[in-house]
Amino acid sequence: YIAELDLSDIGKGTYPFYMLKEIDEQPAVMRKLSQIYADETGKVVMDDAIIQALIKADRIYIIAAGTSYNAGYASKYLLEELVEKPVELGIASEWGYNMPRLSEKPFFIFLSQSGETADSRQVLVKANELGIPSLTVTNVPGSTLSREANFTLLLHAGPEIAVASTKAYTAQIAVLAFLAKATGTAIANKKAANFDVVHELSLVAQSIEATLSEKALIESKVTGLLATTRNAFYIGRGQDYYVAMEASLKLKEISYIQCEGFAAGELKHGTIALIEENTPVLALISNNPKVASHTRGNVSEVVARGANVVTIVEQDAAIEGDDIVINNVHPYLSSISMVIPTQLIAYYASLHRGLDVDKPRNLAKSVTVE
Ligand code: AGP
Repeated sequence: YIAELDLSDIGKGTYPFYMLKEIDEQPAVMRKLSQIYADETGKVVMDDAIIQALIKADRIYIIAAGTSYNAGYASKYLLEELVEKPVELGIASEWGYNMPRLSEKPFFIFLSQSGETADSRQVLVKANELGIPSLTVTNVPGSTLSREANFTLLLHAGPEIAVASTKAYTAQIAVLAFLAKATGTAIANKKAANFDVVHELSLVAQSIEATLSEKALIESKVTGLLATTRNAFYIGRGQDYYVAMEASLKLKEISYIQCEGFAAGELKHGTIALIEENTPVLALISNNPKVASHTRGNVSEVVARGANVVTIVEQDAAIEGDDIVINNVHPYLSSISMVIPTQLIAYYASLHRGLDVDKPRNLAKSVTVE
C-alpha cells in the first residue's frame, strides 16, 4: 500500500500523525523522482543551463539550515565524486553575516524544503548582489528562494506538513544525485557513467520498504531505551556521520531528548567522558569496509563504559547480534536508506513520551525570521 500513496494528498487519512505518513511516502517519492528526472532509457532529463553553470564553477557551496543542511552533507561525497569539484557547506544563519572567503567561480546551491527560510534567503540576496550563480532545490514551486535564484529543481515530495522533515531530506539527496549524474555525464566522468541512478534509486525504494515493514521491531528497540532518558548519542563515520547529525536533530526536535551526532572517532577526544551506565548510543554502520570495523571498535569502547547500544547496520556489514539490519544500497545513496530507521526511532520516541509528534514545542514548520 505504501507505493500507492497519493503524494498530492494533504490529509493524514488513517495515520495518527503526518510524520508517519510522510515517512511511509518515501519509496513513492524515490520512484516518482526517477519518472521526473529520467527518461525511459534512464538518461537524466534536466535543464542543460544548470549543468553548464555548474561545469563553469570551480567550487560548489551548499547553503541551508537544519535538516536541509544535513542533506547537503549527505550529498557532498556524491557530488564531489561525479562533478569533480570541491563541495563546501554553509550554515545559512552564519553565512548571512559571516560569508567566508569564496573561490573565484563559486556556484551556490540552496537546499530548502519550504523555499522560504529567511536565513537562506539572506545569503541568496547577498549572492545575487555579488553575481554568484545559484540553484534552489525546494519542495515548493514559486517559493521565494525558487523565484530569486537563477535555477530551480523541485523535490516533488508532496506537501510536508509535520514540522520534522523526513521525505524532503531523502528527496534532496535523490535530486542532487540526478544533478551529479547529469553533470558527471556531461564531463565524461567515469564514475558517473557507471552510476545507474534510476536503478540504484529503485533499490533504495525497496530498501526503504523493507525497513518500513520492520516498524514493530524498530519500535521495540526504542521503547525501553528512549522512554525516559535525558540524553542519547548517535555515532558513525563517513556518510554515517552525516546521517548521525540528521538522526540526532530529528530525535531532539520531537522527543526533547538531548542528543548529539558524533563522528565515532571523535568520541575519544572528549565526548566519551559523557558515557555512563545505560547511556543510549545508537551506532550507524553502513557497508563501507574502510570505516565499518573502526566504528565497531568505538561501539566496543562505549559498551565497556556501560552504554546501551543499538546498532543500525547495512546487511553486508552486519554481524550476529546487530539490532536493526537494512538492505544494502549504492554507497552514494546509503544516507537515504540509513536515515529511515532513525526517522522511525525519533517518531516512536516522541510517541512513547506522549508528545505531539507533528507539532513540537517552540518550532514552526518554516522559519521565516532571521
Ligand atoms: C527539520 O526537521 C526542521 N524542522 C528544520 O531543521 C528545517 O529543516 C529547517 O528549518 C530548514 O527548513 P527548509 O528546508 O524549509 O529551509
